[in-house]
Amino acid sequence: MYTHLQRDVSRPPVTLATLARMKADGEKIASLTCYDASFAVLLDSADVDVVLVGDSLGMVIQGHDTTVPVTMDQMAYHSSMVARGLHRPFLVADLPFMSYPTKELALANSVRLMQEGGAQMVKLESGGKQTEIVEFLASHDIAVCAHLGLKPQSVHKTGGFRVQGREREMAVRLVDEAKRLETAGADIVLLECIPATLGKTITAELHVPVIGIGAGPDTDGQILVTYDILDITTGRKPRFVRNFMDGASSNLDALQRYVRAVKQHEYPAAEHCF
Ligand code: KIV
Repeated sequence: MYTHLQRDVSRPPVTLATLARMKADGEKIASLTCYDASFAVLLDSADVDVVLVGDSLGMVIQGHDTTVPVTMDQMAYHSSMVARGLHRPFLVADLPFMSYPTKELALANSVRLMQEGGAQMVKLESGGKQTEIVEFLASHDIAVCAHLGLKPQSVHKTGGFRVQGREREMAVRLVDEAKRLETAGADIVLLECIPATLGKTITAELHVPVIGIGAGPDTDGQILVTYDILDITTGRKPRFVRNFMDGASSNLDALQRYVRAVKQHEYPAAEHCF
């Protein structure tokens, strides 16, 4: 049964200032996705720094083929459950598909994720037109994570879950978009499925922390889908996934191994990179 984490003053909550300090000190940021309170308690106990209530819940929890069917109500609901299980990690929640087509809707839905969902930051799949939305949210003092590279909400348009930025023109565009998003006020940039060399370039160009998933070892932090690293996900897994249950004595042990591997620069290894 889920029991609420006891508040622990010796483990102060992670804030954006903590993450900025980690980038400056070269300490890697360990992040994972989460969708409920029981897992939230485990992730907190494992000392995960950043927890994301990802719209990947559409695939992982709901069994859809993509993240497109996920609604705002569902994101707010899952985020509120995760928030109740956390004390130390910084909580980020995804704005789902078409919840930010205009500045006004983006603001209203970000407020919902923060007020109903307990999120400290919202994440949106960005670039192009969304840069103005990032700027608008930032001007209202909302902490924003801009997601670049492979954008799962756009898979029907882009033709599937594919590595982005392999061609020079696209790589240059991604570096430019990352810089524009930082200038617009993004507090974190998340890079998904891009070549490791491009992950390194973007991380070096930006002042804000950069967290990667399949973006190589040189980003400031790593994020993975918790169900993938605990070997709960069935079927073929992406190249960047490592099974941390291998040799682990429990789920908590596996999560602690993940955090240690990220902090000690052991994950991702060459075989996890593009
Ligand atoms: O929704 C999600 O879980 C994500 C991660 C893959 C970064 O966006």
